[in-house]
Amino acid sequence: MGKGFFQLVLINVTQQAVAVAVTTSEDASFYGWLIERFSEFRAPERQPTVIISNINPDVSDGFKQHLPDSKIQLCISHLSKDILRAVKELWKSAKGKGVLMKQTDLAKEEGTAPRQENQGGGRNGFLMAWKCTVFAPSVAEFEDAWEHLQIDFAAQTGLLEYLKETYLPFREQWVRAYTNKYRNFTVDNPTPKGGFQSKARSYFQTTVPNLLHLAN
Ligand SMILES: *[C@@H]1O[C@H](CO)[C@@H](O)[C@H](O)[C@H]1NC(C)=O
Repeated sequence: MGKGFFQLVLINVTQQAVAVAVTTSEDASFYGWLIERFSEFRAPERQPTVIISNINPDVSDGFKQHLPDSKIQLCISHLSKDILRAVKELWKSAKGKGVLMKQTDLAKEEGTAPRQENQGGGRNGFLMAWKCTVFAPSVAEFEDAWEHLQIDFAAQTGLLEYLKETYLPFREQWVRAYTNKYRNFTVDNPTPKGGFQSKARSYFQTTVPNLLHLAN
């Protein structure tokens, strides 16, 4: 198991306690350990309603073992960041070669720069299609959007493979059609720029690096 620490902070949000854990390790066994320690704090019959995580969905899926009644939700900002990274690394040009996209190119495609290839099949089109998949309001619309994305971007084999392996099996963690059924206090995205996380951080008294220093 990787060395790691977590700090737990309880915050009162509309009478509900919100616990925030910041950790320094991201491997599966560490999270297993974290969830077990967390179980020592809570009454056995009470499980968190929702767990929002920013780790690999495959790892957070493991939380179900210990907390079968809790809903697990991916932080949408972290998801978006990871998709941008994947597009950057795995996008194939028309010639079928993987091209590394420069940050500036990506910014251009996201912003106002004139678009040539982007309306339909380009990277921007892909990101739009992906957004429709993530924010599909019903399961049927999600399935439809995902199918269209695969047809429209069939040439992007690496990228599609990545999505299929990393995210598809864990769709209940990130497709709006599922997550909008979870308790959300009407907070659209609780992490990280939504202010919630930075607020939570300000409650942490000791910084994790200091704790690590102590342990070493
Ligand atoms: C929050 O929950 C309500 C009630 O289930 C739902 O109508 C709304 O769409 C949810 N919001 C988000 C951002 O998921």
